[in-house]
Amino acid sequence: MDIVERVLITEEEIQTRVRELGQAISQDYGDKPIALICILKGGLMFLCDLAKHITSPVTYDFMSVSSYGDATQSSGVVRITKDLEESIEGKHVIIVEDIIDTGLTLSYLLNNLRSRNPASLRICTLLNKPSNRKVEIPVDYVGFEVPNAFLVGYGLDFRQLYRNIPYIFIPKPKYYQDEID
Ligand code: IMP
Repeated sequence: MDIVERVLITEEEIQTRVRELGQAISQDYGDKPIALICILKGGLMFLCDLAKHITSPVTYDFMSVSSYGDATQSSGVVRITKDLEESIEGKHVIIVEDIIDTGLTLSYLLNNLRSRNPASLRICTLLNKPSNRKVEIPVDYVGFEVPNAFLVGYGLDFRQLYRNIPYIFIPKPKYYQDEID
């Protein structure tokens, strides 16, 4: 694809790491049921692959929050646009997220979900961009630490496209330069 400047994480690397994360979660939780909460739309690919490697009993539910819109910079505005269908009270919850950038989205979500009294609440993110953090977030499971670059693929979009690409890439600046100027 012409938009690809460089592949940062290959499909094989993602699949290997996701399997490891699933195994780590299974070891930690054993037979305890886990309520996986997928943050749409970016977390969807990750959730599907991750859940296959968790041997503990799992349920999943979905939440959607507004974050970036179509721009490449965080707006700082977080709003729930789709809420969970089931109560998480007394459940062992893991939030499944594609990437933590500023941390603003998860900071809001953590406070919101904590107030619903889960038995425990952890975060599993495929990608972590610690250099861009604005609020401290306790992350329990991380797939990859990534540099402060705009990333696309495997759930991450550029103008809602390329979420289906099985690897993560850095796009050529000419494709998105206008939006960040
Ligand atoms: P945060 O609130 O800044 O941590 O942003 C989290 C959300 O921003 C993620 O769930 C993504 O939807 C989006 N995001 C952050 N970095 C990128 C990126 O490099 N590419 C695409 N989306 C991103």
